[in-house]
Amino acid sequence: MSSKSSKDKPETESATGMRRGLTSYGDTGFSLFLRKAFIKGAGFTDDALGRPVIGIANTGSGYNPCHGNMPQLMEAVKRGVMLAGGLPVEFPTISIHESFAAPTSMYLRNLMSMDTEEMIRAQPMDAVVLIGGCDKTVPAQLMAAASARVPAIQLVTGSMLTGSHRGERVGACTDCRRFWGKYRAEEIDDTEIADVNNQLVASVGTCSVMGTASTMACIAEALGMMVPGAASPPAVTADRIRIAELTGTQAVRMIGQNLTPDRILTPKAFENALRVLLAIGGSTNAIVHLTAIAGRLGIKMDMEAFDRIGKETPVLVDLKPSGQHYMEDFHKAGGLRTLLRELRPLLHLDALTITGRTLGEELDDAGPAFTQDVVRPFNNPIYAQGGIAVLRGNLAPGGAIIKQSAASPVLMEKEGRAVVFDDLQDLASRVDDDDLDITADDFMVLKEIGPVGAPGMPEAGYMPIPRKLARAGVKDMVRISDGRMSGTASGTIVLHVTPESAIGGPLALVKNGDRIRLSVANRELSLLISDAELAERKSKWQAKPAREEDQRGYRKLFLTTVTQADQGCDFDFLQGLGDGGSTPVGKP
Ligand code: FES
Repeated sequence: MSSKSSKDKPETESATGMRRGLTSYGDTGFSLFLRKAFIKGAGFTDDALGRPVIGIANTGSGYNPCHGNMPQLMEAVKRGVMLAGGLPVEFPTISIHESFAAPTSMYLRNLMSMDTEEMIRAQPMDAVVLIGGCDKTVPAQLMAAASARVPAIQLVTGSMLTGSHRGERVGACTDCRRFWGKYRAEEIDDTEIADVNNQLVASVGTCSVMGTASTMACIAEALGMMVPGAASPPAVTADRIRIAELTGTQAVRMIGQNLTPDRILTPKAFENALRVLLAIGGSTNAIVHLTAIAGRLGIKMDMEAFDRIGKETPVLVDLKPSGQHYMEDFHKAGGLRTLLRELRPLLHLDALTITGRTLGEELDDAGPAFTQDVVRPFNNPIYAQGGIAVLRGNLAPGGAIIKQSAASPVLMEKEGRAVVFDDLQDLASRVDDDDLDITADDFMVLKEIGPVGAPGMPEAGYMPIPRKLARAGVKDMVRISDGRMSGTASGTIVLHVTPESAIGGPLALVKNGDRIRLSVANRELSLLISDAELAERKSKWQAKPAREEDQRGYRKLFLTTVTQADQGCDFDFLQGLGDGGSTPVGKP
């Protein structure tokens, strides 16, 4: 075993491998000498330490069962890296699970992105594999990658398997909400809801429907940030492990080609991702995340243009909550490549991917189409327009969105009386009160669940149907808020009303009994009061006094720097400084 450490001359510019980003001791030779001495304590040879270094972000956590296959993935990625001649080095970052993060996982997304970005910068790596999965983890990692500008490749943990309840196939979390709705309506009893609870999550992995995790997996592949075919294999399959190995191998290959994320994450790539989001009937959360990722590169999300491409991009993927199948069915149907084949005329095929080839070249090599019933042909869609529509009006001057593919058609063109809940506590304390003055024709309005309000813009926009109406068989109502909704939920739910109520947006000014007009066809969300009345109410509006816990730490940073939904809810100081153009750019 040779020992040349003290003679190594570290380079400060364009350094590679263990010579990258040396710790500052004022003596670069000593910095490298010390670094190698320490890592040799773990038994590494000079041969290993002379290889290209591939960092692998490990987001395994006892609090994150969606990442429960992390050990197997890690082993496979390392194998792939070593097969290609690299040195894999894993490192931990924050991990966030939807159900274990309070007040909401979104509150921590930017923290995870900062952690990931800074660990990529701080530690020596020539390329990085980012392993995420649960909803906010992939956006956080892509935001980090966009900012760190080190060649990066995304790997997802993959979806969970479906379970079975009394002969019915079930999976998280569309069925979680469906069964909970039945329980609230007293259609099923305590024993049955406990039985269902055992079956909804049949294995480790991410939610089995087209929720945010599956949506972000598809988007990461459409952006060109994953190896082809990587979005759909379920967590516990051999395909998922093979994808992990391929990911490790590809990470090494990216180094020589200098495939940094800014070369891949272009306005055209974002448009491809937006087309996919629309065609999969994907999660509304993805709009916020894509806006934030693009924002890191100075690329602006043009919501009017997004709405325009929505009108020409049909929903083709028949997955819950917009359709009937689950992610494992999508995988058996060929996964994202089957969809991309159908969308081909709408895609920017010249967009570069992490393979160094274009999306079009990858699609050419994807193999022939075959008969399946999960991805519809372009001319026979599930829903003629894209899943998400952008609304505007005096109630949402900065925009709002609705997942029209998962809404009730009869409720999408409607005027209604506002029944206002001032915040989440108010909703919780009154929604099941039998004396609540509400009918199925009313519009439920919830304030204070925006980025600043809750804080963190929780997925509370899916308000429960008041118990007395649920008991009477009401399944859907118009619900309006400045919050978000889980990608696994459905209903006529208007979300992301911007600007939010906590900073004095028009939503803050809505009173019980006001009339509101929702017209998805006209893309309208209007509070039916005069401009003078609106101005009068605005002049009297006062922000809630700051709470003690708002005055320090991460919460203070969050509250003082978080942007609104139309800017991705990123921290203002993390956004890119340059002008990277805007997206979507329009048909190829
Ligand atoms: Fe992790 Fe749904 S809770 S993906």
